[in-house]
Amino acid sequence: MSSVFYRNLNKNYPRAVRSDGMYIYDETGKSYLDMSGGAAVSCLGHQHPKVTKALCSQIQNMSFAHTAFFSNEPQEQLASLLADKFAEAGARVYFTAGGSEANETAIKMAWQYWQALGQHKKTKIISRVHSYHGNTFAALSASGNLPRRRDMGDLLIEWPRIEPCYAYRHQRADESEAAYSMRSAFALERAIQAEGADTIAAFIAEPVVGASLGVVPATSGYFAKIREICDRYDIVLIADEIMCGSGRTGTFFAHEQDDFLPDIVTMAKGIAGGYQPLAATLARTKIHKVFAASKSGFAHGHTYVGHASSCSAGLAVIRTIDEEGLLDNVRHYGKQLHEALKDAFAEHPFIGDIRGRGLFQGLEIVADRQSKKPFDDDLKITSRLHQLTMKHSLICYPGGGSARDRLGSHILLAPPYILADIHIEQLIEKLQTIFAELFDV
Ligand SMILES: Cc1ncc(COP(=O)(O)O)c(C=O)c1O
Repeated sequence: MSSVFYRNLNKNYPRAVRSDGMYIYDETGKSYLDMSGGAAVSCLGHQHPKVTKALCSQIQNMSFAHTAFFSNEPQEQLASLLADKFAEAGARVYFTAGGSEANETAIKMAWQYWQALGQHKKTKIISRVHSYHGNTFAALSASGNLPRRRDMGDLLIEWPRIEPCYAYRHQRADESEAAYSMRSAFALERAIQAEGADTIAAFIAEPVVGASLGVVPATSGYFAKIREICDRYDIVLIADEIMCGSGRTGTFFAHEQDDFLPDIVTMAKGIAGGYQPLAATLARTKIHKVFAASKSGFAHGHTYVGHASSCSAGLAVIRTIDEEGLLDNVRHYGKQLHEALKDAFAEHPFIGDIRGRGLFQGLEIVADRQSKKPFDDDLKITSRLHQLTMKHSLICYPGGGSARDRLGSHILLAPPYILADIHIEQLIEKLQTIFAELFDV
């Protein structure tokens, strides 16, 4: 009997004992093709020699020195690297251990920023329906994902939410993309006006929605308008790039493709590729300056802020992406993957949409393509998909709720940037088998 308090108490987990490149091996020797890097984490695949070498050397030299007492070289270098990649000079980076902490940090930063400026009523965080920003208290309060919130009853903070920019379900048949982008963005302005701008601290959104919707980029012009609205009403704009950042969509920051500059960017997962737990909250210089000038600074902190070994893994991962030109791979293989998925499944009776950017692709599953009706909840499509993908040695990321609440299913693909044609071929073959069993056709 295991003493582990598992994530899912009714599930038997195979034990992972080894991993290499695109594959993870369990104790029976079964190999799993990792086409989602777990949850968009393993961006360099498994056991990349440059990263394991850098990490081992850091651990041998100095694993940890509490950042309340010292800074450390990996933290300094990684912060510079990230700040240099950001379009505006002078950004500062606060490192934590996971995505929820990064968003918790961002939310506190937005609150305290307005406090420092004497705007004490600016406390609410507007987010979007179908969003997930983490499982800690403020991050979950800002998350719109109902299945993930429900079990918390009424303990969470209730903040306003607007509909996401989700063309597949919300763009009207007679509406242009530009008109939809504006309509969708103006939902934010309406929410701000309804609540009162003097009560809103920040708006948080993923530039490309990951697990809650199954990879949904915004339509063109949406985020530029969101930026304008945030500026007009003095709202901090937080881009949650925990899943879609670190090169996943073909540019280092996902927001680069939407032509806007957030005030705060949160990153995790791919930032250290799973080699160590690491997350980052990057703040524009105007935010940092307010804290630097305030008496109390930024009231926050965790034991593992700026952890040396974690930052050394992050540094090695980002340097490897740069040195090996892996963003070219993301763009090239992103197109190949998208085309292969379209060739194989565009006419499939139960695949309603295939979408994404770079090596971040999603397939939305529907019961009827015409009406986009989701399958009934009783059919448990998402959990059966999860079982079938594991049975057929495929790691991808099935999710639910893309239509509403529990209804709607999708598959999220976020393969490592090192993938090659053969892995796309294997994926398509496996998905064909899985869909045949799932839909019994
Ligand atoms: C967009 C987004 N934000 C935040 C989080 C929370 O990150 P973590 O699970 O590392 O706390 C996730 C995790 O899936 C995420 O996808």
